[in-house]
Amino acid sequence: TPHLLGIKDLAKEDIALILSTAAQFKEVLQRPVKKVPSLRDVTVVNLFFENSTRTRMSFELAEKRLSADSLNFTASASSVAKGETLLDTVNNILSMKVDMVVMRHSASGAPHFLAKHIPAAIINAGDGINEHPTQALLDAYSMQEKLNRSLEGLKVAIIGDIMHSRVALSNIYLLTKMGADVTVAGPPTLIPKYISEALGVRVEYNVLKALQWCDVANVLRIQLERMNQPLFSSLREYSLAYGINKKMLDSLNKEIVIMHPGPINRGVELDSDVANGPHSIILNQVENGVAVRMAALYLLADRD
Ligand code: CP
Repeated sequence: TPHLLGIKDLAKEDIALILSTAAQFKEVLQRPVKKVPSLRDVTVVNLFFENSTRTRMSFELAEKRLSADSLNFTASASSVAKGETLLDTVNNILSMKVDMVVMRHSASGAPHFLAKHIPAAIINAGDGINEHPTQALLDAYSMQEKLNRSLEGLKVAIIGDIMHSRVALSNIYLLTKMGADVTVAGPPTLIPKYISEALGVRVEYNVLKALQWCDVANVLRIQLERMNQPLFSSLREYSLAYGINKKMLDSLNKEIVIMHPGPINRGVELDSDVANGPHSIILNQVENGVAVRMAALYLLADRD
């Protein structure tokens, strides 16, 4: 059974196919009638063991636009709270003739574990600090769309809490595979030491320098919930040293695209006038998430 567990496993051609399929679905989504019959006999469960707004809503909407039947599962409101295991939970749901699983889990590798034990196709909607493949795909789609160019040679800075970010890792895999030039920027305590050599990215501790260098800045949230101990002194100090404000953008004297996967810590990694300003494509990213997830679901569905 084919799965979408991470960008790490994908070839350049797979990524290009998902992005071009997403472009076709984006056209469909501009029509007055946005629904297509492609997945009419497919049932998908959205299995969320961790909170989500964008990913969950856009998978559900993508399934509805494709005419799939969808079920929504929230761990905290389920029998997981009574001690039922992940595998029992999924096997029970699949016994009701469910075909595909979209899963978010706080444990890195949870969907990879599941893939070894169940017959259904799995899409990883974020696993711990490992990967968030559909986010990287919608980010790539949004960069290409905004700049009307390919990713080859594009200068992308990924800025903020790199260490705890599955969005950073999936973006790095995707962008380097597609020939983009990637710099990660932020505080040394939030950038793992191995990242430069292991993943072929540059490291920059000065956010203004990273902004001066890049075409696109993908800015990440500080994930306090994943830190056992504080890795910087306070949110205010983080904002002063590494946050992005309008004055910094004005000083660049060039076009730049500002992205953020959401949710934003306003006034911490991004000031509101940057997040809401003319350089920001943050809500376009969210819009494109639906088309990209339609593409992933469509390409993985077993329609025989
Ligand atoms: N970008 C993203 O994954 O947002 P949610 O956590 O709200 O799904």
